[in-house]
Amino acid sequence: MIDKIKDHLQAVEQFDAQDPDAIEAFRIQYLGKKGILNDFFTAFKAVPSEDKKAYGQAVNLLKTKAQEKVDALKKQLEAKREEHGVYGDLTRPGQEIGIGSRHPISVVKDEIIRIFANIGFNVSEGPEIEDDWHNFTALNLPEYHPARDMQDTFFIQTDPEKILLRTHTSGVQVRYMENNTPPFRTISPGRVYRNEDISARSHCLFHQVEGLYVDKGVSFVDLKQTILYFVKQLFGKSKIRLRPSYFPFTEPSAEVDIYWGLETEADYRITKGTGWLEIMGCGMVDPNVLSNCKIDAEQYTGFAFGMGIERIAMLLYQIEDIRMFYENDIRFLRQFKSAF
Ligand code: PHE
Repeated sequence: MIDKIKDHLQAVEQFDAQDPDAIEAFRIQYLGKKGILNDFFTAFKAVPSEDKKAYGQAVNLLKTKAQEKVDALKKQLEAKREEHGVYGDLTRPGQEIGIGSRHPISVVKDEIIRIFANIGFNVSEGPEIEDDWHNFTALNLPEYHPARDMQDTFFIQTDPEKILLRTHTSGVQVRYMENNTPPFRTISPGRVYRNEDISARSHCLFHQVEGLYVDKGVSFVDLKQTILYFVKQLFGKSKIRLRPSYFPFTEPSAEVDIYWGLETEADYRITKGTGWLEIMGCGMVDPNVLSNCKIDAEQYTGFAFGMGIERIAMLLYQIEDIRMFYENDIRFLRQFKSAF
């Protein structure tokens, strides 16, 4: 009997636990109503009288030790809680921080800005709500000019003055010309609006980057070379062609195609089997536009170009539906984490 108690004494001494459940289980095991000590006390009656004293002392010692153990472990636990009270357990692994990704439109826009900044273009911005002068009239599009129909416009107000959502960022360039003296090189990125049906190919809002370079002696050669440089940088392609076109604010005007190639099935599909893709409009700034902006058209010439960022992004990333850009589907956006 005494040996058994001694074994328990040793076990009690060696016992260690950090969590409250384990400590409570230990307490119940020894000190509980049906615990080990209770059994020893019950057995007391049967102990021969000459052994009663030693037995009694041993059981009492075991009881004291068990109680002391429980108290000590609880104290230890309490101390630990206080230590971590404010911050929790500092050794626990942290919670993962969800890192977002930049929107593909921003990614492509910034890349276009970077490419033009390298050849001296600064960035100019202007209001999305425009007046008639900056969006149309100053750009050689007087009232009743048929080309106004090329850009279906959202009007905010028509009387007494026409106020509208800008249909292109060319108005920013008008402001820039009005407020600066040449030479200058500037690009104007921004959101534009057109009253068009929403489909996989077109939307009522999209983004543009337009560029303008005005100086003495700027020629069509400069325009072509600038665009070639840009195309090489952004797409890594080096074949372009300029097709004659019409814009009221440029003369002559052209549409720029890049040679995309016909290597894959997708190439056939997106270039409609021609290998060529239209990417922007451009031209020499019409002298009327320069004069409207108080720039001497006898002294200065300039070129301008404009492109849709969505279109460029769709080509770069093979996105088939323009609506993807505005739906903010996290599965779509996540794919651009490492873009550029
Ligand atoms: N402003 C034109 C558009 O929105 C683009 C353009 C800009 C074309 C400059 C030629 C020169 O379609």
